[in-house]
Amino acid sequence: TRPITLLGIESSCDDTAAAIVRANGSRGEILSNVVSGQTDLHAAFGGVVPEIAARAHAEKIDLMVEAALAEAGVSLGDLDGIAVTAGPGLIGGVLSGVMCAKGLAMGSGLPLIGVNHLAGHALTPRLTDGLAFPYLMLLVSGGHCQFLVVESADRFHRLGSTIDDAPGEAFDKTAKLLALPQPGGPNVEREAESGNPKAFALPRPLLDRPGCDMSFSGLKTALLRARDGLIERDGGLRRGDRADLCASFQAAVADVLTAKGRRAIAAYLEREPAEPVLAVAGGVAANATIRHQLQTLCAETGLRFTAPPLALCTDNAAMIAWAGIEIARLGHVDGMDLAARPRWPL
Ligand code: KG4
Ligand code: ZN
Repeated sequence: TRPITLLGIESSCDDTAAAIVRANGSRGEILSNVVSGQTDLHAAFGGVVPEIAARAHAEKIDLMVEAALAEAGVSLGDLDGIAVTAGPGLIGGVLSGVMCAKGLAMGSGLPLIGVNHLAGHALTPRLTDGLAFPYLMLLVSGGHCQFLVVESADRFHRLGSTIDDAPGEAFDKTAKLLALPQPGGPNVEREAESGNPKAFALPRPLLDRPGCDMSFSGLKTALLRARDGLIERDGGLRRGDRADLCASFQAAVADVLTAKGRRAIAAYLEREPAEPVLAVAGGVAANATIRHQLQTLCAETGLRFTAPPLALCTDNAAMIAWAGIEIARLGHVDGMDLAARPRWPL
């Protein structure tokens, strides 16, 4: 296969991102990868506000594309196509990206490739590690939680997913309940370091049920009850309580992911992969306790464990450009009727 160079555009949540990726055979090279976050814009609201996000994407997206081209030292004429996240996500943001990509494709005559954001995450370990199909992927972030067998660039077998909150969301809500700053994940993890993970017996939801589906919203409710119990008994949280609550919460999340991960691995191994691998991606994969338990599980079950570098685990456009390359190689190209989809299951 000849080298192929794509521009990727991502704007489905609260990051406006553009990247240039070149692929030569099975190897991918990131020529540029720029991202503009919106955390400050949404900070006062305790979550992403769709209307504010859409405006910020519309404002920033052209700048990001220009920056990605400049940083890579290429112009539109050097590209083979334009890949853009066409969903799932906040529709205003997705539309900003799709409109921008359509404009560029129309002006340049380059092919347009719509990419599923989740496929972007799921295919990243091929860009960073050249993983062979099929591999097992745990996608665990503020918006997603699923175990996937990645069979090809356009075939994903979902073994299970959360039936309510994503773990990152649960970390963020836990931080809020305990008056810790956002984003919750890293702050809850830091607080948990000095806590006792066995201090509170929080539930491990759905472990009594077969399959790989998960639930995290009950955990948050249990934590709230534990917190209020302490406040009622002691008149407030005492020194060490917060750390114990964080540690107990984190242990519960890690246990659920590990127990369901064990089942996912068993289902994956039935396919007899030549080189069994578990790849993790998403912001929550940065958590050391969760990572450690999954690594131990992989060692026990004979899988290699891998995680892309954090900047490629969280939302970015390099993963969209790369997925676009893989999809284009399968012969899929979109027309000007490419739709922005708020929901788009893999
Ligand atoms: O992948 P990501 O950047 O964005 C999406 O959700 O798409 O993930 C962000 C989420 C947030 O909920 C954040 O609290 C969580 O990942 N997170 C963590 C850690 N670092 C980030 N959760 C647990 N432990 C961490 N160290
Ligand atoms: Zn994402």
